[in-house]
This record gives sequence, structure tokens and C-alpha cells, in this order.
Amino acid sequence: MRAAILISGGGSNMVALADAMISGKISAEPALVLSNRGDAGGLQKADRRGIRTVVVDHRRFPDRGSFETALDRELQAADVDMICLAGFMRVLTADFVGRWSGRMVNIHPSLLPSFRGLNTHARAIAAGVAVHGCTVHEVTPELDDGPIIGQAMVPVDPDDDAGTLAARVLQMEHRLYPACVEAFVQGARRPLFLSGDQTTS
Ligand code: GRF
Repeated sequence: MRAAILISGGGSNMVALADAMISGKISAEPALVLSNRGDAGGLQKADRRGIRTVVVDHRRFPDRGSFETALDRELQAADVDMICLAGFMRVLTADFVGRWSGRMVNIHPSLLPSFRGLNTHARAIAAGVAVHGCTVHEVTPELDDGPIIGQAMVPVDPDDDAGTLAARVLQMEHRLYPACVEAFVQGARRPLFLSGDQTTS
């Protein structure tokens, strides 16, 4: 199994996935790290791990379709079997998603179906929820939707602001995402639940 990891920023989830692949905890190989931004900090982290990196700058393309054609070309050149979106900040068209149907997963920083979209931590605090978290799901054309592969919960502390909550959720993301990609590769049928030190399915 050859995986591409798509990023736009610091790439801490990419690192968690790539390291789990390199150490054999995920039965897949990090064949490609692709970013839509040349200044994504994750690119250097991938380079240091000896992973092939490519930048496809979305600003060079007149529309989403031509950007995605270029993405597809790189994914095919790397002979990739699956895609892990890891902080990739571009909305993908139904066409692209359809071509990768059943072979593309994403991590989202909320307990879906709550708080789809952006600014999830501030919105969770504003909503007054006691429990927040993160979700790994298969990608379908609807944004932040699709079958859930696993979820991890993070209690909201009364003193939390969006930054402190985001930091604790991100730590859970780094545990949840590798566990979920391995479950997905192995064809697990039930969603994983990760809480504290425990993983159950
Ligand atoms: C993560 O919170 C991820 O859930 C969200 O964007 C952030 C990316 O962080 N989609 P990183 O680039 O993996 O550090």
C-alpha cells in the first residue's frame, strides 16, 4: 500500500502518519508528501525523513478542475493507492473525490457531525460543550462528512481558550490518525474510539 499525505501547513499529523508508516505501525509506505503551498513547514520534515515531496501551488491554476488534474498527475506518478489529507486546506471537487472514493481519508478537529468547517475549537467553546475531540473519516463530496473511521474525545476545561483546546486536541489527533489509517488499511468495519490511554473498537 502506497500512501500520499496531503498538507498545507506545519504537517504535525503528516509526521505522526509518516513515522508510524516508517516504523511499521501502519501497513503502508509514505510514497509522497504533497503540499499546495511551497512554504508549508511540513515539506522539510518530510524531506528529512527521505520522503518524496511535491508542491502543486493552487494559485498557478485558473480553476479547481485544472489544479486537481495536476494533483492527480503527481499522485499517479508516485503510484499512490490511498490519500491521507492532513491539514490540506483546499476544498476538493466531487469529481476528484469520486476518483479516489474509498481510498481517501481526512482528519477533522471536532467530534463530527458537530462543528464541520473552520474554527472548530472556538465554536466548541462558544457552544459550551463539555466534550470536544477529533474525527478521522472517509472523504465524500460533502465537506467534513463521510463514514467515520475513528474518534477521540478531549474534555473541555473551564479555563480553555481556543488555543489551549486546539493544542490538546492536536495531541490526540497524533494518536488517533495513525490508529485509524491502520484500521482503514486493514478493512476494519467498526469505528475506533480513543480516550485517554485506551483504544477500543
Ligand atoms: C489539524 O488540526 C487538522 O485536524 C486540521 O488542520 C490541522 C493541521 O495541523 N485539519 P498539522 O499541519 O497536521 O500540524
